[in-house]
Amino acid sequence: MPNSKQKNHANVSTLLDESRIFSPSKKFLSNVQIKDDSLIKKAAQDRLAFWAQWASKLTWSKPWDKILDWTDAPFAKWFVGGKLNACVNCVDRHIKAGKGQKKAFIWVGENSDQRTLTYADVFAEVNKLANVIKDLGITKGDRVAIYLPMVPEAMISMLACARIGAVHTVVFGGFSADSLQSRINDCEAKLLITADGGYRRGNVLLLKEIADKAITGCPSVKNVLVVQRTKSSVKMISQRDHWYHELLAKAKPQCPPEEMDSEDLLFILYTSGTTGKPKGIIHTTGGYMTGVAATTKWVFDLQDEDIFWCTADVGWITGHSYIVYGPMANGATQVIYEGSPDFPQRNRFWKIIEEHKVSIFYTAPTAIRAFMKWGIEWPKGCDLSSLRLLGSVGEPINPEAWVWYHEHIGRSNCPIVDTWWQTETGCILISPLAGITDLKPGSATKSLPGIDVKIINEDAKEIKEGGGFLVLTSPWPSMLRGIYGDPKRYKETYWSKWSENIYFTGDGAKKDTDGYFWLLGRVDDIMLVAGHNISTMEVESALVDHPAVAEAAVIGATDEIKGQAIVAFVTLKEGKPSLDRIEDILKAHVANKIGAIARPRQIILTADLPKTRSGKIMRRLLRDVAEGRALGDVTTLADVEVVEALKKKYEHVES
Ligand code: PRX
Repeated sequence: MPNSKQKNHANVSTLLDESRIFSPSKKFLSNVQIKDDSLIKKAAQDRLAFWAQWASKLTWSKPWDKILDWTDAPFAKWFVGGKLNACVNCVDRHIKAGKGQKKAFIWVGENSDQRTLTYADVFAEVNKLANVIKDLGITKGDRVAIYLPMVPEAMISMLACARIGAVHTVVFGGFSADSLQSRINDCEAKLLITADGGYRRGNVLLLKEIADKAITGCPSVKNVLVVQRTKSSVKMISQRDHWYHELLAKAKPQCPPEEMDSEDLLFILYTSGTTGKPKGIIHTTGGYMTGVAATTKWVFDLQDEDIFWCTADVGWITGHSYIVYGPMANGATQVIYEGSPDFPQRNRFWKIIEEHKVSIFYTAPTAIRAFMKWGIEWPKGCDLSSLRLLGSVGEPINPEAWVWYHEHIGRSNCPIVDTWWQTETGCILISPLAGITDLKPGSATKSLPGIDVKIINEDAKEIKEGGGFLVLTSPWPSMLRGIYGDPKRYKETYWSKWSENIYFTGDGAKKDTDGYFWLLGRVDDIMLVAGHNISTMEVESALVDHPAVAEAAVIGATDEIKGQAIVAFVTLKEGKPSLDRIEDILKAHVANKIGAIARPRQIILTADLPKTRSGKIMRRLLRDVAEGRALGDVTTLADVEVVEALKKKYEHVES
């Protein structure tokens, strides 16, 4: 591992060596907020006082009595007794500070539509929507499901819920009816906010139709609010379904915010779990807001005049923390783009950056790899000189992609912040601080101030240099507070591998001689497909749900663009009439059951799966097969022939 500090000013395309270090450019340094390590020192001196100081930058209607209560670990309470409202912190206080005319959103539709909303516009719409939601019978603590495309109404719906103390659960618009249904039922949402449709790569996705299918099995849903986006014809069920714009036009303009306890629920967001049943991750108000507001400022160096663009969908945690709550708590101006990066052409993102003078751009490695594949001619012709900082999130960024991003998008002038975090962590925990951290392509560098990240081995012994399990050894303000309705699973999943004081991230990582973290991916049965968590079990259950399937084993195989792609090994039931193109049928079946993001790249039919003598499927060997590697240890296999035959078959399919 490196320790020689070779400064970069040379031709970056040759710098794929892990030991090369990139220092921030003079131009970037001239205007950066964090210029020295005083923040780090302050956090090290007194972690709790440090967090309290950042919490106090929010607007509280009542101060807290105690910073942290960890007596009932792993159930944390932060800023105990404090009262605040997340919507007030994201909207009202900027208006009070005289920034009502500042742009909050520059929204770019996939077609030529465009809308600009100032903070005053957002305030007006959020207030009206909050009244509409209240009139539909929603009160503090009720759950509201949001299933929308990337339109301003998605952010406004989240804020309106926060204003009245309703708990939102946003379901990504690419999820299927089944996935939407199970999430709504798990949290018993009373209201669903959806749209007639959404645009994706020029096509219309009929969201209302999917939502209708989902809610036939959702007894808790009493009302559906429908945003008109595509003007597609939809069936409105009288009493239950209401047009968003019609009710908003009649709504009262002012809705006083609910005073929320610091530990009141702000939202539930579902993420894949190793058992196949998604986990409803719960985040509360005071600690979450503190974590996202502070890290937005530190990591992105967000300043008043910046134009921030995070390309995530609000259906994921990145959209919650770094579109809605973090940037808005800081009064940011943001670009929001509705559609796909290659519509109508592969330079759509670069055209948007050029037109709107985006200065901070935050995207995912899977997107960067796709841009690399499409070629440099797409960004080359665009003026990207407004950019001053780039970010990456969702999966490890390979050094080649990092260097390409740095050179062709950042034009060698912008630091890249590789940000490691999770739905569960709420905010970024490992990332460079661009003004003071030297960068190494492929490393998320160091933990942020106030965060205790370590690498440990099976015996909980800390590894100061080398690889092991990535853990957190102290609670942090924006940590998840549990799994909705399942405290036992919360404890077991995250806080039981070693003790109730050690949070297991599920990731493997190594530390180099400079103390830099290198993330190595998941060590459990969760795949990272285009940066999205999908559990192998979830896909396996979807496959065995098909009447022709007897058994299925799913693995994440390395994929050039998506990081990992889903490969399924499937045994068909005997005696069933053979179906033509069964592989395609099964791929479509999975997409239909879970959503298009879970569509397997490959289905490999096999007479048997490699199992241990006790009947456990050996996924490790399936991974070897799918990645064309020599087979690892096969001594525990019940029948070695099975995997040898599978290897031959796979090689045949691949060639
Ligand atoms: O494996 C890590 C990977 O994504 C997982 C969290 O996924 P999710 O909850 O969907 O949140 C994604 C957005 C925060 C982590 O356990 N991951 C996320 N960011 C990185 C990463 N792996 C390596 N480097 C990253 N920067």
